[in-house]
Amino acid sequence: MDQAIGLRNRTSYAEITPGKNDSKLSYDNSASTIRVFAITSGKGGVGKSNIVINLALAFDEMGKNVLIIDGDLGLANIDVLLGLTPKHNIHHVFQGEKSINDIILDGPGNIRIMPASSGVQELAELQDEQKLFLMEMLEVLEEEIDVLLIDTGAGISDNVIYFNLAAQEKIVVITPEPTSLTDAYAMIKVLHTRYGERHFRILVNLARDDKEALNIYNQISRVADNFLDGLSLDYLGFVPKDHNLPKAVMKQQPVLNVYPDSPASKAFPTLAKRLQAIKPGRNDGNIRFFRHRLFNLG
Ligand SMILES: Nc1ncnc2c1ncn2[C@@H]1O[C@H](COP(=O)(O)OP(=O)(O)O)[C@@H](O)[C@H]1O
Ligand SMILES: [Mg+2]
Repeated sequence: MDQAIGLRNRTSYAEITPGKNDSKLSYDNSASTIRVFAITSGKGGVGKSNIVINLALAFDEMGKNVLIIDGDLGLANIDVLLGLTPKHNIHHVFQGEKSINDIILDGPGNIRIMPASSGVQELAELQDEQKLFLMEMLEVLEEEIDVLLIDTGAGISDNVIYFNLAAQEKIVVITPEPTSLTDAYAMIKVLHTRYGERHFRILVNLARDDKEALNIYNQISRVADNFLDGLSLDYLGFVPKDHNLPKAVMKQQPVLNVYPDSPASKAFPTLAKRLQAIKPGRNDGNIRFFRHRLFNLG
C-alpha cells in the first residue's frame, strides 16, 4: 500500500495519459459515468451497513443499476443484513477458484452484492496485487453499473483507506456520540493530510431531528476548519433514530422494504436524490480511471 500511495502522490491527474488505441478510457462526464460512493466512519456501529443497503434500494427505485461492495472483506455484514447466504465470496476470487461474476449475489430489487468473507484474516489487509486485481475485476462489471456503493467497514485500516481513495464521493457517517465525532475526524485527517483528499460529505445518523443533526455537523465542521487547511466538509443530510431500523435488522431486511413509512425509510430516497444530483468531478470517469489514479498505471 505504501508503494501504491507513494506512486499516487507523485502522480497528478494530468500525467495520466490514455493509451492511443484505448477507446474505453475516457475521462469525460458522459451519461455512462459510474458513480462511486464510499460510506465510511472511523467508528463501527454507527449505521454504515444499513445506510448502504437502504441507499442502494433508494437508487434502485430511481431506476439505477446498483452494486454494493462489502468492503469489510474479512468480516462480512451486508449479506447478513439482507438475509443472504453466499456460497462463495471475494476470498474464492482471490484464491482463483471463482470469477467475480460467480460470486455476485442478487439482492432485493435489482441490487447486486459483492459479498465479503467472514473470518478470513488475510483479507483484512489486501496486498497491492489484490487491490489492483479487484479494480480490474470491477472494470468488467462497470458497463452494467450506474452506482457503486462501498461499505468500507470500520477503523482506518489500509483497506478502508483504499476504498475511500477509489471512491469519487466519501460519505462520512457520524452520530451524536462524541466518540463517533473523534473517530470520523481521525479518518478525515488521515485521508486529508496523508492522501490529499479535500472533500467529504457528512451524513448524520441516529439524530433526533434535523436541528440536532446540523448541530453535530457544525461541531465536526468547526474542528476541521480550525485544524485542517483546504478541507471542505459538506452536509449531506441525516437519518433519524428509528426503532423500526433495529427491528428490520432482526428480520434481516432493509428497513425501507419492511417499514417503508418509517422515518428512517423516508430519509433514504431524499439522500439518494441529493447524491444523484452531485455532478461528477472533472476527473471522474470510470473504474479504469481509479485504477490509474491509485496505481499510476501507464
Ligand atoms: N437510524 C437508526 N435508528 C435506530 N437504530 C439504528 C439506526 N442506524 C443504525 N442503528 C442500529 O445500529 C446498529 C449498527 O448498524 P450497522 O449498520 O451495522 O453499523 P456499522 O455498519 O456502522 O457497523 C444496527 O443494527 C441498528 O440496531
Ligand atoms: Mg457494518
